Amino acid sequence: MRKPFIAGNWKMNTNSATAVALASGLVKELDSVDTVDVSVCPPFVYLQSVAAALSASNIALGAQDVFYESNGAFTGEISCEMLKDCSCSYVILGHSERRHIIGETDELINKKVKAAISGGLLPIFCVGELLEERDAGKTMEVVESQIRKGLDGLCKERVQAVTIAYEPVWAIGTGRTATPQQAQEVHAMIRGLLETLFDKNVAQAMRIQYGGSAKPSNTAELMVQPDVDGLLVGGASLKVADFSQMVKTVA
Ligand code: PGA
Repeated sequence: MRKPFIAGNWKMNTNSATAVALASGLVKELDSVDTVDVSVCPPFVYLQSVAAALSASNIALGAQDVFYESNGAFTGEISCEMLKDCSCSYVILGHSERRHIIGETDELINKKVKAAISGGLLPIFCVGELLEERDAGKTMEVVESQIRKGLDGLCKERVQAVTIAYEPVWAIGTGRTATPQQAQEVHAMIRGLLETLFDKNVAQAMRIQYGGSAKPSNTAELMVQPDVDGLLVGGASLKVADFSQMVKTVA
């Protein structure tokens, strides 16, 4: 069975003091939880101090992006090796804010996914449709295209490093969560697509998180869906009480 996986995406929030306080608070609350994989993804500049706060805990560290080259003249970028050096296990890739605000393309995200796997990181690869795409009935088409392009060139063995996060853009940070049925419908399509692209065993083994206004009050109804294997949590991951309650609900 797929082990549930809850990840916190802190985005461009916290400072050096609040990042460590948040991580330490979670360690205290979640120390005995071992039936759920938990990860937090702070801003790059706080990775090392958060890593220290998480040391000897079950909570894994992740970053919010990575560049596909390993070193050199790439001003402002961060490599897989640097993230590993800061104790990261996971990296979020293709988040909708990077697709739609920064302008990342499917091709760029695909390069990052492949580099992350080669570099020993576990990608949390995000996909999801805009509101106008959902309203136009294009959700499945958009998500399928993002997955085909984002996972292009990966073999069965390598793709299993990936967690997919389905995050409808209209649900992110809006308080408007997808209904459990809407989430399940897309997750089931994604799992079917993974079976087509790879095989049944791969599709059954890979975890698919839901993200978009996930919070304590909707955790259970989302997680009870057969193809929802976890959550990628933004706003609610910034509060020790909310995030730990979500993990405990799943545990
Ligand atoms: P949200 O963000 O939980 O604040 O909606 C989720 C995400 O963007 O990963």
